[in-house]
Amino acid sequence: MTEVSVEEVGVAVLVDAARAAARHAHAPYSRFAVGAALLMTDGSIVTGTNFENASYGLSLCAETVALATANAQGRLADVLAVAVIGGMKGADGLPVGDKPVGPCGRCRQVLNEAAQMGGRDLPVFCASADGVTVERHMLSALLPHAFGPADLGLA
Ligand code: THU
Repeated sequence: MTEVSVEEVGVAVLVDAARAAARHAHAPYSRFAVGAALLMTDGSIVTGTNFENASYGLSLCAETVALATANAQGRLADVLAVAVIGGMKGADGLPVGDKPVGPCGRCRQVLNEAAQMGGRDLPVFCASADGVTVERHMLSALLPHAFGPADLGLA
């Protein structure tokens, strides 16, 4: 099957999917809503949002939730690109703010699992909640000298 490209689908579509997911953030403790959207090789989009827990430390990040969902569909190796958006929850539940949000260190490591299993570097689009700023970083730049499945002979 031929792979789609980010250009074909459009970065704005991916960022909008991340924003829509952020509305469902379960973030009553931090009030910080994050949405993540994965562009898959077939052009579909898998989303995730942060899922906090009353015991705080058990909270899951949006990117990790999205990646676990892709994995649950048997598609961990089919991730082409990622968009992340976040900010304090506004009245409508959507994030507010003008500062692009990037993946935390743990999420970079989890993203690397998908990247190496798929044999490709991933563009990570970090968007501000107002949608004005979208920064593009390659995962290899966000997580240089990464340890991953390749080190274990698995990719
Ligand atoms: N968060 C994410 O979902 N992804 C990140 O990469 C950074 C942080 C979430 C975790 C927590 O629910 C909230 O943002 C505040 O840290």
